[in-house]
Amino acid sequence: MKSFSNFPTMKMNSRYRGEKDDMYNAHGHAGNMCREVILDNLGRILLSRPRQSPVQPVNIADFGTADGNASLSLIKEMIDVVHTHLGDQHPIVVYYNDHSKNDFNLLSKVIQGTGQEPGLVTGNVYPMMIPRTMYEQCLPDNSVDVAISTVATHYLSKRVCQIKNGIMFEEADEEERKMIREQGKTDWRAFVLSRGRELKPGGALVVLTVSSNGHGEMSSVFYHGQSVFGRIVSDMTTEGILTQKEYLATNFHVFYGRNEDDFREPFTSGLPDIKKLGLELVSIKLTTRHYNTHTTDKLKYSQMIVAMVIPWMHHVVYGGLSNSRSEKEKEEIISQYFDRLQTYAYNHSDFIPYMFFTEVVIKRNKK
Ligand SMILES: C[S@@+](CC[C@H](N)C(=O)[O-])C[C@H]1O[C@@H](n2cnc3c(N)ncnc32)[C@H](O)[C@@H]1O
Repeated sequence: MKSFSNFPTMKMNSRYRGEKDDMYNAHGHAGNMCREVILDNLGRILLSRPRQSPVQPVNIADFGTADGNASLSLIKEMIDVVHTHLGDQHPIVVYYNDHSKNDFNLLSKVIQGTGQEPGLVTGNVYPMMIPRTMYEQCLPDNSVDVAISTVATHYLSKRVCQIKNGIMFEEADEEERKMIREQGKTDWRAFVLSRGRELKPGGALVVLTVSSNGHGEMSSVFYHGQSVFGRIVSDMTTEGILTQKEYLATNFHVFYGRNEDDFREPFTSGLPDIKKLGLELVSIKLTTRHYNTHTTDKLKYSQMIVAMVIPWMHHVVYGGLSNSRSEKEKEEIISQYFDRLQTYAYNHSDFIPYMFFTEVVIKRNKK
């Protein structure tokens, strides 16, 4: 029986630090897809808020925030909405959550503001960082007005298997798929219930996550699906660049195959806490997003695709490499991996990547 640590290394990575992150450069932030529903919910909550004395802050939380860049403009809009409704002196607390292995230094810089982008240093806005798994309660009961989470809840809370014939869910065999699905179910329940406890009565949770399209089909960044990710690791193993052990240890521990029923499950399975907390599933919306890169330049296309992939793939390749390798050696191998991905993208530059996202809105009703 092979042993593997419970938490994979999760640090998002980038080749181009200091600017807008690469996912943004390639396709704009996915979180903007649920901008309207987030602002609508915030407006509704503020309108139904009784006058409080002493004044209570409005609490906003972003789960799985990475470096905070993705949600920054949206958080600023939320701050504007609060100030418009309650006055520009009204205190606001913004909680930023991510896994303890996240790069919180980078998050701190984004909060402070970079040269081009002002951060959250406005008076009466208090940012807080919470390094803790989002599959547990991270904040006190009844404390959050609006919680958001974008492109994060497909990550599993722990490794449940090693995918033997590749690195992605699509390459997993039936037994491995079953374990991954089961963990996905447990994690989604834990996420919904943890957020449900944290929400104030009347508060709302908006989640946008990578999903299937409802017919079992999954997102694809590359022509012919995601299997190229594993095929390159397999080629590098055959060529003796990676060991067999490293090949097996390279896995992406996520479940991006949830469908509408999976998102409904905590509400349809009669979990007593759902009722006790007064949680209501308001809506589920599936969206397909095509990433038209607007270029016929093959090199530019391939660079963009790889820049989009590096932030969430770097740690996967890194995590598979043996600890006996030096950091320099690891980076050389990783560089080679992404160069090969780039060559593949270059050779299939007619392909338009697409992602399936599901937006889930949950409300905690007042008793
Ligand atoms: C693809 S990034 C998304 C970042 C950002 N929210 C966005 O919309 O671009 C996924 C983030 O989820 C975080 N994450 C993964 N598992 C987590 C966990 N158990 N608890 C908290 N954050 C987690 C990762 O560390 C990463 O920062």
